[in-house]
Amino acid sequence: MASSMFSSMEMAAPDAILGLNAAFNNDENPHKINLGVGVYKDETGITPILECVKQAERMLMESENSKSYLGIDGLPEYAKLVRQTLFGRDVDVSPMVTLQTPGGTGALRVAGDFLKSKVGASRIWLSNPTWANHGAVFSAAGLVTDSYRYLGECGKALDFTGMMESIAAIPAGDVICLHACCHNPTGVDPTVEQWSEIAAACATGGVLPLIDFAYQGFANGIREDAAALQPFLSSGNEFMVCSSFSKNFGLYAERVGALTIVSQDSATAAVTLSHAKKAVRTNYSNPPKHGGAIVATVLGSTELTALWESEVAAMRDRINGLRQEFVAAMVSRQCSVDFSFIQDQRGMFSFSGLNPMQVDQLRKEHSIYIVGSGRINVAGLNSSNIQVLCDAILEVL
Ligand code: LMR
Repeated sequence: MASSMFSSMEMAAPDAILGLNAAFNNDENPHKINLGVGVYKDETGITPILECVKQAERMLMESENSKSYLGIDGLPEYAKLVRQTLFGRDVDVSPMVTLQTPGGTGALRVAGDFLKSKVGASRIWLSNPTWANHGAVFSAAGLVTDSYRYLGECGKALDFTGMMESIAAIPAGDVICLHACCHNPTGVDPTVEQWSEIAAACATGGVLPLIDFAYQGFANGIREDAAALQPFLSSGNEFMVCSSFSKNFGLYAERVGALTIVSQDSATAAVTLSHAKKAVRTNYSNPPKHGGAIVATVLGSTELTALWESEVAAMRDRINGLRQEFVAAMVSRQCSVDFSFIQDQRGMFSFSGLNPMQVDQLRKEHSIYIVGSGRINVAGLNSSNIQVLCDAILEVL
């Protein structure tokens, strides 16, 4: 046998979020509960296909006549509709370009490659805490990562003063990764007024904002959540948005996302597109079509868009209802810890305040899976598992 180049490798650590799914699937406890990965589930525990998606797929079945490659930047009509969803129908699109990417994660990686190898940026600042995969994605692109203050020491509210002090200290030419809404993992967002101050501070300090927008519609509404982007747009400064339709279209497995680069003028925008396309071509060549075609079909139809918005509202309302149920269930158990802050958090996640030992105990003794940081996917709760979760939390506190 030839000598092995692989045998000296050690097993890699499981992924902090997706690795939990594998562990959950291997758990033989019939009462196990998966509150790890950020996936919406309905009352019956199913991640449903939205009705607007089903209708769009039927239309595509009839009308699609080719599966030939897309352009490097994806479907042109998709790009236009993404920009309208982010910024409204009347936006001046001339200084912006959009690339269709494989999910929001694909957008983040292309953005990282573009920033490092085309723009010459060297460092990106991440909120503390942030999504468990942000650091790895940007490091893989060759960027150094550092963190800015975000969650206050109470673990329940934004430390806005600390955040602004951190931003003021970021050197010009660095990049800051911001979460537009439904902050992952905390569910704690800045207010509209605070977003204006954040945008102004980035502009003053010469810091480039890269806005991760994976949960549009899950906080207060499709348009309401996009308010976070407006101060960046009105400032006339450069910024980037990595958006995703995994959650708000339920298109997780289709990998549908977008990278939008906003420049100061249209000539610069064209140059940014040419370089971002190089980053795509050397990575996955061009994006998959089906998910983008579904989104473009829905957003290109007034009726299907209205249906989509109502389906997003139903998911959002259900999650907010579950937050209230959870808090009420803890109160009824006369829990010594005040969990009322969970009602104020937004999006799929709640930062429960449970420590890694308690998280471990929930998993080992109750087969309840949540992320090590204490992040609970509220969207995975339902009337049959919520009481079990509350009893188990009471035991590990
Ligand atoms: C999550 O945070 O659970 C989701 O964004 C899924 C993922 O890829 O980690």
